[in-house]
Amino acid sequence: MKSSELRRKYLEFFASRGHAVIPSASLIPENDPTVLFTTAGMHPLVPFLLGEKHPAGTRLASCQKCIRTGDIDEVGDAVHLTFFEMLGNWSLGDYWKQEAIEWSFEFLTNELKFPLEKIAVSVFVGDDDQPSPSGLRSAGAPFDEESFEIWKGLGIPENRIAKLPKKNNWWGPAGQTGPCGPDTEIFYWIGLDAAPENFQETCEDPNWVEVWNDVFMQYEKTAEGKFAPLKQRNVDTGFGLDRVTAILQKVSTVFETDLFVPIVAKIRELANSTDERSERIVADHLRAAVLIISDGVSPSNVDAGYIVRRLIRRAIREARKLGFDFAQTFTTQIAEEVIKNFGETYPELVQNSAKILLELEKEENQFKKTLEKGEREIAQFLKKGGEVDGEKAFYFYETYGFPLELTQEFLKEQGVALIAPEKFEAAQKAHQDQSRTASAGKFAGGLADDSEAVAQLHTATHLLNAALRQVLGGEIFQKGSNITAERLRFDFNHSEKMTPEQKEEVEQFVNTAIQKKLPVTCEEMSVEEAKAAGAMGIFDDKYGEKVKVYSIEGVSKEICGGPHAGNTGELGRFKIKKEESSSAGVRRIKAVLIK
Ligand code: ALA
Repeated sequence: MKSSELRRKYLEFFASRGHAVIPSASLIPENDPTVLFTTAGMHPLVPFLLGEKHPAGTRLASCQKCIRTGDIDEVGDAVHLTFFEMLGNWSLGDYWKQEAIEWSFEFLTNELKFPLEKIAVSVFVGDDDQPSPSGLRSAGAPFDEESFEIWKGLGIPENRIAKLPKKNNWWGPAGQTGPCGPDTEIFYWIGLDAAPENFQETCEDPNWVEVWNDVFMQYEKTAEGKFAPLKQRNVDTGFGLDRVTAILQKVSTVFETDLFVPIVAKIRELANSTDERSERIVADHLRAAVLIISDGVSPSNVDAGYIVRRLIRRAIREARKLGFDFAQTFTTQIAEEVIKNFGETYPELVQNSAKILLELEKEENQFKKTLEKGEREIAQFLKKGGEVDGEKAFYFYETYGFPLELTQEFLKEQGVALIAPEKFEAAQKAHQDQSRTASAGKFAGGLADDSEAVAQLHTATHLLNAALRQVLGGEIFQKGSNITAERLRFDFNHSEKMTPEQKEEVEQFVNTAIQKKLPVTCEEMSVEEAKAAGAMGIFDDKYGEKVKVYSIEGVSKEICGGPHAGNTGELGRFKIKKEESSSAGVRRIKAVLIK
């Protein structure tokens, strides 16, 4: 079965069961500054999952373009993709578990003819009898017995139904308030041998491929971290088009499916050597870049544009490894294959094809120049009698975007060896410790970013901002901020070193707000309204029409993309680790939350 037929079959199946088929939304979320890309089919539907009326009704189905950048470094293996397509069906307060599960089952076994003995499912085990880890939230929700019974009724043997915890069988934006609930996931055995009988024990086996996720949004995570029953119960499902296509086409990776074959063929035509990993990275990254550009984003140094830039540049570096001819423009040739292959499903590719090709050509030329410049620098350095060691190689990497293997290759061409290559890693480590995830953090993006730790540090940053204004004066404002899962970093205008007493006072202010267990609330409003409400923020044109304003009652009100903790009580103890000068008139605080 062709991928296009699978798309059509899925949408027709749900259309004949009363679903309105809606077009894919843009890869760039509208009115949601919390994420750079649309990461799931449900993403553009959030307002409707929260109760707003959808003009097309209460049953919807779509094939949604998605980008996930959390696993970007894994791309090149058999399974990871940056761009992928998620088929999905939704019930907005309409049908519930019985129909959702039955239809998933019917589609897989009747339409796709998946044999029962290769299917296994998982359901939420329940944790309402577990003490909550932080002692603050009542994290409990019961065993999803209803789904368990429905699967049994459909003929799935009990030993093929795994009962798994929230880590596996729960869906909803992490660290945030909002709709969430247990899910039931459907797996297909791709191993050549018979599928193991006991799924609970073997569910981690990579031969069990998750093909579908039915999420039952029946709770709302409240500001206090409780799970309150939702007024409108929704079904949200996600079905992996790429993976299922691979199963149906009986190939072991998505790169061998018709979704990729023409793209990979073009890459092979342009290459002088073969390397599976490099081919996959070029194919994945350029496919993703083309789709993102078709939704109106150009390569740049910020946000989604920065991701596009990195995708293109990484693809070019891998193309170089494959021996592409650098005298000709090649990203555009591969892009043409992408446009041909996906243009029927996503017409914006065809409409914007001229712009896509132009942007790629520009970026490719610019990056090639950067590479040339780097090579010239290295050559000059060698000419002056310099010896390139790992540390110097890291300098080339930092300054010219020259990865270690490129430097090595170039040196080899010049007939010299790289000295102490291990120093590269040491220099990189030292650098990372200084500016941890400055770029990797950006690259992650998407819901993957929303780890609870990051959300809590975002909230701590707002408290710190308020504390500094309280202790040092109202003229203090934010000059910069950077958050990783481990720590926050906050830059602010102040010209003197803070005294130990001032630091202590700031810590105390923040910790008092934490002890008060204040709810963190979020409201969407226009920039004008935010200003009028006295929200802090840097009022320039980087904001969209609507902004999110996060409030911590009596302490802080700031424009921010989030994500945030639901309640300050979740934060633990706030501690300043360092206070130092960042640049003239700007101080920098690094701080952590101790649990
Ligand atoms: N929103 C659910 C997922 O992405 C269906 O898995």
